[in-house]
Amino acid sequence: MNLVTLIDLAGTRHLPLLLSLSRRLATPVYRAAFLAAASRSGVLRRLAVRPCDLDTLASAIGVTEDRRLLRAWLDVGVRLGDLGFGDGCYRLRSRTARALADPANDAVAAALEEVARFHLPVLLNAPSMLRGGRRLTLGDQDGAVIARSTRVVQPFVQEAIRDVLDRRAPLRLLEVGCGSGIHVRYAAGLNPRLTALAIDLQEDVAAEAEANLAAWGLAGRVRVRRADLRDLDTEPQFDLVTMHNNIYYFPTGERTKVLEHARSLLAPGGRILLTTPCPGGSAGMQVLDLWFRYADFGGPLPRPEELADQLRCAGFTGIRARRLIPGEQFRAFVGVNRTPAPVPNAEERNS
Ligand SMILES: C[S@@+](CC[C@H](N)C(=O)[O-])C[C@H]1O[C@@H](n2cnc3c(N)ncnc32)[C@H](O)[C@@H]1O
Repeated sequence: MNLVTLIDLAGTRHLPLLLSLSRRLATPVYRAAFLAAASRSGVLRRLAVRPCDLDTLASAIGVTEDRRLLRAWLDVGVRLGDLGFGDGCYRLRSRTARALADPANDAVAAALEEVARFHLPVLLNAPSMLRGGRRLTLGDQDGAVIARSTRVVQPFVQEAIRDVLDRRAPLRLLEVGCGSGIHVRYAAGLNPRLTALAIDLQEDVAAEAEANLAAWGLAGRVRVRRADLRDLDTEPQFDLVTMHNNIYYFPTGERTKVLEHARSLLAPGGRILLTTPCPGGSAGMQVLDLWFRYADFGGPLPRPEELADQLRCAGFTGIRARRLIPGEQFRAFVGVNRTPAPVPNAEERNS
C-alpha cells in the first residue's frame, strides 16, 4: 500500500465500520446460511460419517452438475471455519457443524433452516412487500421443515399434554395441525386406550405424519387426514382437541369462529388444549410474529388475554392459561366444552 492510499484511507470513516460489520454481522449471517444449506443438502450428515473427497460428496448429495461450483461453495464453508480440508478431503471442523450433523439435533438444524429460508427473507423484504402490496402465502413456507423445527418446543408441549391427559379411560383425541405427528405419539404413549384423528392442512405434512405414525406402530389407533379444521365435519365425538403452534395460522378475526368449530367437534365436557408462542418473547418469536402478520392467511401471535377471551366467546369455560417456558412467552391454554344443561325430566318439571 502506498502513501497516497494510506492518506485516502485515513480520510474515510467507513473502513473501520466495514471491518466491524463484516466480523460482527456479515460473517454470522454467512455461517447461518452456509450451515443451513449444508444441513439441508445432507453434506453435514455425510461428512459426520467420514471425511470425503469432492466426487464422493457430490455423488452422496446428488450433484451431477459442474462439480467445480460445488467445490467453490464448500470452500466458503472452509473459509468460514465450519469445514476443514486436507489430504484431498473435506471434513467437519466447527463444533456447531458437528452438533448440527447429529440426528438428535434435527429440530435445531430445521430451526436454523427456518431462520435462513423464511425469517431472513421477511425481514429483508418487508418494506418492498408493503410497497408492492405483496403478502406471504402458505407456499412461501416449507411445511416439512416447519414440522421439524417446531419440535424445539416439544418438551414443553409434552408437559402441557401430561397436564390434561387422562391416562386410563378410553380417550378420543382430535389433533389439529399435527405436523410430524410427534405430539399424538406422545399422547398415545401416555394413554394406551387413546385413539386419535390427526389432521393437517398441508398434503405433504399429513403424508409425512401418516408415515411417521405407522413407523411408530400407531396406524391402528391414529387416523391421519389432510383436512382444514374449518371444513372438518364429524360427529361431536372427541374428548380432547389439541392445537399446538398453529392458532396464528388463522387471522385474529377468525379465531373465535375457528375455536367455536373445534368446540362443536367435542363431546360435552370435552376439553381443548392449545399451546402457542405469544408476543413479547425472544427476537426469533418476534420475527415469527412478523412472518404471520405478512401472511395472507394468518395473523399475529395471540395476546394471552385476547386468546382467553376468544376461547370464552367460542363457548369454552374454566379457561386456564399458563406459561410453559420460564422467561419465554410460550403458553398453554385449556378450556372445557360447556356441557349443555341437562333436560329436566317430567317429575322435575312438575315439582
Ligand atoms: C407450526 S406447525 C406445528 C406442527 C405441530 N402441531 C407441532 O407443534 O409440532 C403448524 C401446522 O398447522 C397446520 N395447520 C394450519 N392451519 C390449519 C388448518 N386450518 N387445519 C389444519 N391444519 C392446519 C399447518 O399445515 C402446519 O403443519
